[in-house]
Order: sequence, then C-alpha cells, then structure tokens
Amino acid sequence: MASKAPPTDLTIRTASHSDAAALVAAIDDVAREGRFFTRSAFSQNPEVEAAFIDLTIGRGGTVLVAETSGRIVGWLTLRRDKTPFRRHVCQLGMGVLRPFRGQGVGRRLLDEGLRFAHASEKIERVELAVRATNVAAIALYQTAGFCYEGRRMRAVRDDLGRYDDEILMAHATTTM
Ligand SMILES: CC(C)(COP(=O)(O)OP(=O)(O)OC[C@H]1O[C@@H](n2cnc3c(N)ncnc32)[C@H](O)[C@@H]1OP(=O)(O)O)[C@@H](O)C(=O)NCCC(=O)NCCS
Repeated sequence: MASKAPPTDLTIRTASHSDAAALVAAIDDVAREGRFFTRSAFSQNPEVEAAFIDLTIGRGGTVLVAETSGRIVGWLTLRRDKTPFRRHVCQLGMGVLRPFRGQGVGRRLLDEGLRFAHASEKIERVELAVRATNVAAIALYQTAGFCYEGRRMRAVRDDLGRYDDEILMAHATTTM
C-alpha cells in the first residue's frame, strides 16, 4: 500500500540507451528476491538490453523508468506481440526496488503505461501474468482496471522446488 508519499523529485520517463545498465541492475535486484518473477536473477548484457529498449519502442511498445535523485528505482515495459494476429496485444512487465515500494511509484508507472497504451492506435489490449502469491501486484492491477482472466495452476516452480500459480489479467484500452 502507498503508505508514504512518493519522492518529491520522482519522474517517469521513456528509457534510453544510457539507462540499459541501470535497468538490468534494477530487474536483477527484484529478481533476486525470488518471490515475484519466473527467474531468480537477470544478467543481461547492457548492450543487449539497449537493443531491447530500441526494439520494444520501435515495434510500438514502450519502456518507462521511474527515477529519483538520478537513480532508476522502477520500470515498466509494454511489449507488442509480433505474431500477425496478435499485434493489437501487448505484454506488461514492471517492478519497483524494494526500498521504494509503498510510496506510489508503481501506481505512477502503471498510470503512465496505460496512458501510453490508450493513446496508441495500435494497442487494444494489455495482458500480464502475475504469480498468485503476489498480492501487492494483483491489488495494483485490479485497482487500475485489469480483469481476471484465468489461472495457470503450478505454472511456476522456483529454484527450491516450490510451486506457485499464475494469474492471467488483461486491460482493454479501446472500447469494443
Ligand atoms: C507490485 C509493485 C510494482 C507495486 O509498486 P509500489 O510502488 O509498491 O506500489 P504503490 O505504492 O504505487 O501502490 C499501488 C497499489 O498497489 C497495491 N499495493 C502496494 N503494496 C501493497 C501491499 N503491500 N499489499 C497490498 N496491496 C499493495 C495497492 O493497491 C496500492 O494502492 P493504494 O496505495 O491505493 O492502496 C511492487 O510491489 C513491486 O515491484 N513488486 C515486486 C515486483 C513485481 O511484483 N512486479 C510485478 C510482477 S507481475
């Protein structure tokens, strides 16, 4: 829950090449908590990550970063599907560094991501999969208008052999 006010200098902006190394470090930090993603580390080469930023943006999606005091403390990606019949769909991923949670950073990132999706003529639907034990993220997505679409049973098995379900959610960004 957003129990503290957001950092006063918090900015949400589109990522650029020069953010690649900090972005990898932020994703790796959250992955290493082991409870949220489907991996326990993220060791991407920054040059590959810079290419990923370009490709994601070039295909009509976005990569946003949350920055405070010159530090990247959160991110959000919207990746458009490249399959011919699914180009109206994009996949959402996001995270906020642990010390910066509960301060409204995730909400600001998601608001901005959804604003981008609504403004895009190409995106009609934002999809995501979230681990069933991740109550904070599920609450955030529900309050932002995402609908429950299903559950993949025991879809995740971590390094210690513990299982988790995945909840599938989606947000329509056009009126049907
Ligand atoms: C999910 C996550 C991005 C939320 O970011 P955050 O900056 O902490 O969230 P905010 O402070 O903006 O809170 C937004 C909403 O999230 C929900 N929320 C946040 N923390 C919560 C908690 N501990 N318990 C329940 N709900 C919570 C609430 O609905 C909250 O809205 P409210 O403040 O009006 O009650 C963050 O917890 C995170 O990075 N988690 C690890 C990575 C992750 O789970 N990524 C998503 C994978 S699908």
